[in-house]
Amino acid sequence: IFREHQLTQRQLVDFTNNFGVAVEHVRKQPPRDVHEIFIISNVKQDGVEIGALGNAELTFHSDLSYMPKPGTLSMLYALELPSSGGATTWCDCRAAYDALSDEHKASLVGLRAVHRHYVEAQNQPELVDHPVVITHPDSGRKSLYVGPHLTKHIVGIDAAESDRILSRLYEHLDEPRFHYTHNWHLGDLIVWDNRPTMHKREPFPESERRLMWRTQIYNDGHQFPKMAIGPCKRLSFSSRAQVHCDRIKNPAYLTLAFDTLKPILLLGPTAIHGYALASRHPCLVQAIHSTNERDAGRLGWPYIELEDDT
Ligand code: OGA
Ligand code: MN
Repeated sequence: IFREHQLTQRQLVDFTNNFGVAVEHVRKQPPRDVHEIFIISNVKQDGVEIGALGNAELTFHSDLSYMPKPGTLSMLYALELPSSGGATTWCDCRAAYDALSDEHKASLVGLRAVHRHYVEAQNQPELVDHPVVITHPDSGRKSLYVGPHLTKHIVGIDAAESDRILSRLYEHLDEPRFHYTHNWHLGDLIVWDNRPTMHKREPFPESERRLMWRTQIYNDGHQFPKMAIGPCKRLSFSSRAQVHCDRIKNPAYLTLAFDTLKPILLLGPTAIHGYALASRHPCLVQAIHSTNERDAGRLGWPYIELEDDT
């Protein structure tokens, strides 16, 4: 979470490109200057919606799971917000998986589920399916990969049994202990990893405007420099710390986007876990997650201590 930024579309795309390659969304939108930006909005111009997703409730999903290679990282940036509603909630699907009983976990081994977009034209000609439990390529951690918005049914079993399995999992994912809800402020930018998380949005009044810009990184296997950052318990949300490390080009500074209440959910389930990248924009910096020297050694990452200047 990066708060209170004033970005142009180009800056958002440049920032996104620190983490991979921002690619134009598969859902077509009217021509715009920066085609990698996908508009999420209920705003209408001459009776036509300028963006996607309207104002209705959106239930849990992982972006682009209806594609054979779904989205990995997504970024969402708030430009106009309604006076009520429209909060976005993320579910930590690794924590949800971990919390299942051993028997329940065992019952999911080998299961795959079909994912499909509700706009039929968005779908591939062939049925797209993914494992019900996926393993993150970077962390090796397992997580649940089903959600009510885009998952249709479990492959190869009868419909009633499939419904039973899925509704039991959805009920589990709905437990607030796995959630972080973000009440948006103007200028908030949120970066998330779609593989170990699902997200949903509450509805908001149709008569009000909500305008967000989205960028998308697909499953491009982008590798970026990895670095473990030493313990920084005293740092709280939005505190700043100088990072002295010659492996970071143009370090300037990193603003640590720590929310002390939810550090694990915000940063843990993402690929950004433990990663730090050189900032190419003075106004934008990367989220990092504190870890310890032993973990860093195991991962083979360089380890640096932070100097706290708060
Ligand atoms: C998305 C999405 C939710 C929101 O952009 O993929 O689900 O809060 N957005 O706008
Ligand atoms: Mn989404």
